[in-house]
Amino acid sequence: MTEQKYEPKVVALICTYCTYTAADMAGSMRLQYPPSIRVVKLLCTGKVDILYILEVFKAGADAVMVSGCEIGDCHFLEGNLRAKERVAHAKQLLDEVGLGGDRLEMFHIGASDAPQWAEAVETMTRRALELGPNPLGRSRARSESAAAAAS
Ligand code: FES
Repeated sequence: MTEQKYEPKVVALICTYCTYTAADMAGSMRLQYPPSIRVVKLLCTGKVDILYILEVFKAGADAVMVSGCEIGDCHFLEGNLRAKERVAHAKQLLDEVGLGGDRLEMFHIGASDAPQWAEAVETMTRRALELGPNPLGRSRARSESAAAAAS
C-alpha cells in the first residue's frame, strides 16, 4: 500500500471588506498561490474568538490564518484589533497543548493588496508542510473511518 501524499488544508477566516476583496482581486489578476486554502468569509475578523479557532483545528485544518483590514481600517472600528489579541492568545494555547502556535497567524491585508494575500497563503501553506498534519485531524479521520467500518 502506498502512503498518501500530505496535502495541507489551510483555512482562512477573512473579513468581507478588505481581505476578501484582495483575495478576489488575486483571482482576477491570476496570481498563483497554493490550492490548499479554504476561505471562510466573515463580516469582520472581530467575529473570530478562540473557541471558533479551536473548532477549525478540531475539524482538521492543518493551519489557520485570520486576515482582516489593516490597522485603523476596520469597518467596525476595532474588530481587527480584538482578533489580533485573540489570535495571539490562541497561539499560546496551541503551543501549550503541543499543536504549535505557528499553525495560526493573523494578517492585515488591504483591499488592494492582492500580492500580499497570495504571499500569506504561501506562508501558511509552507508552515503547514513544515509542521506536518494536524494530529487532531488525523485522529478525527481515524474515528470517522472506524465508525464507517462499524456501520
Ligand atoms: Fe475588516 Fe473588521 S471589517 S477586519
